[in-house]
Parts: sequence; C-alpha cells; structure tokens
Amino acid sequence: MIKSLLAAEQACPLVKVQGWVRTKRDSKAFSFVEINDGSCLANIQVIVDVTVPGYAESILPLRTGASIEIEGELMESQGKGQKWEMVAKSVIVHGQSDEDYPLQKKGHSAEFLRSIAHLRPRSNLFGCVFRVRSRLAYAVHQFFQEKGFVNVHTPIITASDCEGAGEMFQVKTLSGEDGAGGKGGEEFFGKPAFLTVSGQLEGETFACALSNIYTFGPTFRAENSNTTRHASEFWMIEPEMAFCDLEADMTLAEELVKYLVCDVLEHCAEDLQLFAKFVDKGLMQRLHFVRDRSFERVTYTEAVELLLASGQKFEFPVEYGANLQSEHERYLTEQHFKCPVTVYNYPKEIKPFYMRLNDDDKTVAAMDLLVPGIGEIVGGSQREERLDILRGNMEREGLAEEEYGWYVDLRRYGTVPHAGFGLGFERMLMFVTGVANIRDVIPFPRVPGWAEF
Ligand code: 4AD
Ligand code: MG
Repeated sequence: MIKSLLAAEQACPLVKVQGWVRTKRDSKAFSFVEINDGSCLANIQVIVDVTVPGYAESILPLRTGASIEIEGELMESQGKGQKWEMVAKSVIVHGQSDEDYPLQKKGHSAEFLRSIAHLRPRSNLFGCVFRVRSRLAYAVHQFFQEKGFVNVHTPIITASDCEGAGEMFQVKTLSGEDGAGGKGGEEFFGKPAFLTVSGQLEGETFACALSNIYTFGPTFRAENSNTTRHASEFWMIEPEMAFCDLEADMTLAEELVKYLVCDVLEHCAEDLQLFAKFVDKGLMQRLHFVRDRSFERVTYTEAVELLLASGQKFEFPVEYGANLQSEHERYLTEQHFKCPVTVYNYPKEIKPFYMRLNDDDKTVAAMDLLVPGIGEIVGGSQREERLDILRGNMEREGLAEEEYGWYVDLRRYGTVPHAGFGLGFERMLMFVTGVANIRDVIPFPRVPGWAEF
C-alpha cells in the first residue's frame, strides 16, 4: 500500500504499487504518473522511462482514473514535498479510464460530487472523510469495549416507536392482497412493522441483564427536514447503563465526545490537515479546545433564562416549555459558553414517555449535549424505572400495554435506575472534520427527495 511505501525507512530495489492514476505528465524521455490507492491522502509519484516494456501502448494513453500496477525501485525523491518516489520496471494496466472521467483536477462543487457519489471516494476530500469515518467507528468500539460494555445488535425492523414522534418508515412486502399499502406487511409480521428510529428500548432490555451495553447501527427517520444536519438514514451509538443516573450519563457522553476527538487528533493527523486547510480554518483550534477544556452544564430553565437575557433576535421565540431550536442551541454553545454544553432537566411535556420524572414533578431527567457549529450531537436521559409512573405516561401517550408489555416487564422484574443516550455518528464526524453538510460524511446519503445509488 502507498501509505506503507511512503513511510519506508530505506530505499528498496523492488516494490509494487497498485492504484488509480491521479495525474500524468509526459516528457520526451519519461512519464510522471501520480498514483493513489486510498490508503492515505498522499500519492506516490512513479517515473516511467520510455524504455519500460509496453510504454507506448499502455503508459502514453493512460488517463486519469485508470487502474494500474507497477513494479519498480523505491528511491529517495529529488523533488520537494515528498521523501520517496518510484522508478518503474514493469507496468500492468488493469483498466483504462474513459475520456469522460468526471473527477478532474479542478475543484468540484459538493452538489456535483453528491451526484457522483460512486466516484467521489476517489477525491482527496472524500478519501479523508471516509478514512476518518472508519477510524472513528473503530474508536467508538474501543471506547466501550475498554470499559467492559457489551455490544448489542438491536433490530432494524421493529414494531415500536421509541421516540413517539411518528417519524417512521413502514416495512411492507410487495406481494399480498394490497402490494401498494396496508395489508402486505401486516400479514408478513402479523402487525405493522417499521425501520427503527432508535435501538434504545431493546437496548434497555439488555442493560437490565448485562448492566452496561451499547448499540451502534443504522437508524431511520422520516422527518421531512431538509437541513444540513438531518438524514433519513444515519448511524447512532446508544449506550445504556443499569444502576446509573443522569449525572453519570452526562459524564459518559462528555467522556465519549472527548475520547473521539483525542483519537482522531492522534490517528488522523494527515487527513485533519486537509480539512483544516480547505474546509474549516478553525478546526484544529476547536478540536484542541475540546480536548483540553472541560464542558459546561446548564439546566433547561437556566438555558431559557440565558437566552431571554441575551438580547439576541431569534427567528423562533424563546419561551419556557418550548423545544430549544437549533439557533438557540447554537447561541448557547457558540456565543454564550463558547464550548460544548449539556442542557438537562427539560419540561416533561416536550419529552418522550420513557424519561424519568424529576422530584419537581415538572421536568424529566433528559439531557442534550450541544457542540459549536452543529448544536445537538447527543440526546439522552435517565429512564423512568417506577412502574406506576411509567404506566401513567404510557396511558397519556396512548401506548398500549399489549404492545409495550415487554418494556413494562423490565419494571416488574427487578427494576433498576438506568440511563443512556444516543450520539449521532454523522454529526460527530461533521464536528471532527468541519464538513458542513451531513450528506458529505455518509457514503450514500438518504434525505427527502434523494435515495440514489
Ligand atoms: O435525540 P435523539 O432523537 O435520541 C434518541 O433517539 C434516544 N432514543 C437516544 C437514547 O437515549 N438512546 O437522537 C440522538 C442523536 C441526536 O442527538 C443526533 O445527534 C442524532 O441522534 N440524530 C440525527 N442525526 C442525523 N439525522 C437525523 N435525522 C437525526 N436525528 C437524530
Ligand atoms: Mg434529541
């Protein structure tokens, strides 16, 4: 791989490189071919002498995007900016690239690159994004595994609406009496089934057996919000801890965000440099700040007071009892605290049935972690472990006990205080890369009006 070749300690008489041509320049006696294989941002430059067998037929006509394999000598580079280059001895062309290869050297707009999402991983920017995505996923597992959390694969098809927001995609078969709607799916599962909006409820059942668990998987929401931070399909990390209260839940969320930032700083330095140069000039400063400073915490009530006293003009009015809008969240984290901040204890009326009622009888033990540039990145809560209160909430929300009896059972057989949260994986990626649109941190974005590839 090019990454290991470029990290070589010494020259080597025979090495092999396989990859795709980024650029080629021809002179009288040589061609200079820049090859990339995605193992790192950098290309390796290969010098192909006209005397290399097959030069005229295979090397001269090569176009950007072609795939080749070259054997040759790894030598110290004479040119600036790179330590190593290769001198070719033999060349195999696996596939020439057609003349209309759409990725050219000039910068392309993000919109255009989305329309060629099958080729955009070959660009510098998207190579960096998806290498960081891979590393971040690894770090998520490492964080939880090191702490002894058990990874649970919660179902993607489910009959329950965890968030109660009705933002679900229904799963139906094409066959059956009514292929277009109603009965097809219901016959298959015996009841209406949906793509999960959260693995939390199923995750709770495992926390009430294995103590500390986490899920990390795809999540689906049919919200018709065409923003830069919402996708119809996204990935979420959801830890759930038994014998745990809101305080410890908030601490874990802060720790996780910090851990992921530190991990990327340590392991993705080259890729981060590209983001800092071309995507977000303030990126490194922000990441160092998050690594080095502690986060703030503020109750919802205090947050509302701060917003009302801010003198800021907001599009949506601030009032106690209403959801904080993205502009409010961003004011808090970007202008007021200038650092990540956790808002907790929200009015019970605006939160789902499973959140634990506080002693004030007005608020629930909910929390949202907000970060600069994005707003909410984590949403979580302590869960209602008291049977009577949970039943009351379900009755009020119209949740049938026949449907959610299994969830209620957790409170009937050895109930425990427990808590958890969901971290939006793409939002975390946006935060560590500075990439401003969620569509550009997920390989094939699904958003209202768009499900290509
Ligand atoms: O705040 P949310 O809706 O919380 C839950 O789903 C809880 N059941 C989690 C739990 O307690 N186990 O979603 C959690 C996070 C949000 O903070 C956000 O980062 C992300 O998921 N998220 C989205 N990311 C991309 N596109 C969307 N449409 C998202 N909706 C939520
Ligand atoms: Mg939320």
